[in-house]
Amino acid sequence: MNYDEFFELVRRRRTIRKFKPDPVPDEYITNIIKASRYAMSGGNSQPWEFMVVKDPKTRGKIFKAFVEDFDMMYYLELQRTPQYRHPAFNVPPEEKDKARDMLSGWKDAPALIIVLEDPRKMFGSVLCARSDFDTCSLSVLGVTMGHLGMTLHLAAASLGLGSQHVDVLTQDAYRRILKYPEPLRLSVIVPVGYSAYKAGPPRRLPFKSQVHYEEYDMSKYMCNEDFLEYLDKIRALGRPGYRAAIGEAKIA
Ligand SMILES: Cc1cc2nc3c(=O)[nH]c(=O)nc-3n(C[C@H](O)[C@H](O)[C@H](O)COP(=O)(O)O)c2cc1C
Repeated sequence: MNYDEFFELVRRRRTIRKFKPDPVPDEYITNIIKASRYAMSGGNSQPWEFMVVKDPKTRGKIFKAFVEDFDMMYYLELQRTPQYRHPAFNVPPEEKDKARDMLSGWKDAPALIIVLEDPRKMFGSVLCARSDFDTCSLSVLGVTMGHLGMTLHLAAASLGLGSQHVDVLTQDAYRRILKYPEPLRLSVIVPVGYSAYKAGPPRRLPFKSQVHYEEYDMSKYMCNEDFLEYLDKIRALGRPGYRAAIGEAKIA
């Protein structure tokens, strides 16, 4: 693969927020997982495990647990003034269902890859490497799971499939449904399937605004007072994807 092909694949991978119910060959799911396992990990600790869920009943239960998570996210996000809320939450309480729908397009996806993480395996890396001394956070684990995620999503894109990173806030309901033991945790739900809309090229801030050569260019530095302008910009970039999930955008 040359750079142009690689670049094309990287740009083809998009977060898909509404799926067709059409089934995906089992072999594709296996191949996505197979490739994702080659992601880098701290100390080669490989703290991940995967569950493949296709049964509509189980998918339904997982979706229901997610909707309860959503409720918490919605009310926490209400702390922001509407203009600056995450695009999926920029609706008043009387339109809360619309916000939920913007995050629910994955309920039709024919397969879920449930990625589990085992926090014990973080200690397979150098003790304290990249962990946050103040909070003792599990950052080696988080960074490692991020590497896994991108590899997994790229593999899906290479097969012409859409995928989404669905965050969860709580564990109990998912643990009850999927029966994974402590101390494993659900890291992310990745619905996989065919996109129900046309995903355009990814939207990013300008290259020049993010790159410095030799020394930091202070003319590109974001002052505190520029923060709301920045937030406005990224909200505009993110909005079409969520609108596509409720059929309000044909291209996102
Ligand atoms: C750590 C992380 C968490 C994310 N959580 C969600 C999520 O819960 N739901 C969702 O639809 N997208 C989620 N995303 C996807 C981002 O919104 C998306 O990557 C971003 O808007 C850029 O769009 P693109 O992936 O299409 O290029 C998440 C991405 C990351 C890296």
